[in-house]
Amino acid sequence: MTAVREHFGSRLGFILAAAGSAVGIGNLVAFPVAATKSGGGAFLLVYALFVFLICLPVMMAELALGRRSDKDPVGAYRQLSNGSHLWRIPGWLALITPFMIAVFYLVVTVWVLGYFIETVTGNLNLLATQDFFIHFINTPKVFIYLVALMLIINAILSMGVKDGIERAAKTLMPMLFVMLLGLVIFVLTLDNALLGVKYYLIPDFSKIDGTIISKAMAQAFFSLSLGMGIMITYGSYMKKRDSIPGSSRAVAITDTLVAFTAGLLILPSIFHFNPQIDPSELSESSAGMIFLFLPKIFLALQDSIGYMGASAVAAIFFFLVLVAAITSLVSIIEVPIATLRDERNMTRKKAIYVVAGVQFVLAIACAVSFGMVNWFTEFVQLAGVNKSFFDLVEIIFYDTILPLNGLLVCLFVIYKWKKANFDKELQEGDAAFAGSFSQKYVNFSLGTFIPLILLLIFINTVALKFFGHSFI
Ligand code: PHE
Repeated sequence: MTAVREHFGSRLGFILAAAGSAVGIGNLVAFPVAATKSGGGAFLLVYALFVFLICLPVMMAELALGRRSDKDPVGAYRQLSNGSHLWRIPGWLALITPFMIAVFYLVVTVWVLGYFIETVTGNLNLLATQDFFIHFINTPKVFIYLVALMLIINAILSMGVKDGIERAAKTLMPMLFVMLLGLVIFVLTLDNALLGVKYYLIPDFSKIDGTIISKAMAQAFFSLSLGMGIMITYGSYMKKRDSIPGSSRAVAITDTLVAFTAGLLILPSIFHFNPQIDPSELSESSAGMIFLFLPKIFLALQDSIGYMGASAVAAIFFFLVLVAAITSLVSIIEVPIATLRDERNMTRKKAIYVVAGVQFVLAIACAVSFGMVNWFTEFVQLAGVNKSFFDLVEIIFYDTILPLNGLLVCLFVIYKWKKANFDKELQEGDAAFAGSFSQKYVNFSLGTFIPLILLLIFINTVALKFFGHSFI
């Protein structure tokens, strides 16, 4: 056991670190893509409702679990369930899930790093060619970038909670906000930009159906970094005098604002590129958007601001995504590190070596599953379709286990740890929370409809991904 638990230095430090975790590729790319394809403003509205009515109480529950127990997720579940064997399972899931999500997220971030470097070395025109992406992810360069990325992330982690994680967030997050705003202002001055803004903001409620509602829910849950043990771990670094409800609100607002603002960047760019476009026909995936479509859009800017100008805009964009991804990766990799320290008495340094070693091997397995190694490329068959190792990790941990973890958090907090204890923890540092409407809402929702919704999403995902059948 570490003698004195590390803590964030200030409330703002915590909020920026947690927002750093929450703001990621999900906000900057996946959200605008989803909103574009799913009714613009209408999707935004559904998404915001989910963030504040469903995800926010789950975030409070995770933070409270961590802060009460002063432990990593495995230790938190063990301690607050008085050693129940059954309740160890969610603890382990809250360790394995971030570990594996980190692996596939590392690989995607490696591609972002690669695109950033290609752009600054003058190759934007290459990025915009048809087959560049598939060629690029199969070159040995990705291994070098993987090593570089892991060195950066683990260097931050090795400096600890306050001097590493918090300091990085305090430097990188304001930088991210400035870059994002700068890019949005620039993009809004382009021809036809307002068509994009209109498309983004005018709600089309006819697009909203069961599938889109569940997509908005999954997106909100992922975007707030829930179900990954991150908020339990960060909660354990929070000071007792800080308000959990207040800080959670600040994180959720920041995260949603960044996602919203990213839409103001992407849609106007698309319409500047082609005012006749029907954006609902754009590619479904965020990978398609960021690696195939956006480079073409950036290159097209050369007509108005020249090749250098276009490259600069693209470089700032990829750097922005890279920074957002790095702060997310730092938070997710801290979970297994905290567990090894708390549960196995390892030093931070040793835990970093162990986690990084295993993740490096698994990340390589993911990176070669796009054609380099056949065995990983055609790893399994699910519902009659070949899936790579990378796909499998994403399907199991991101699509399936994430909502399950959320469900278990709700059930645990309300029915095992018990409402009264949870309430007491939320009132620490926030006396006004006692008896408030928020308190009643959080208690009621976490014990009733939130777990129900998460259960439905879990069942639907299992049916869809593993048996090719959807109920919604
Ligand atoms: N919230 C992150 C995002 O939107 C999700 C995430 C968090 C991914 C932590 C990895 C690590 O991209």
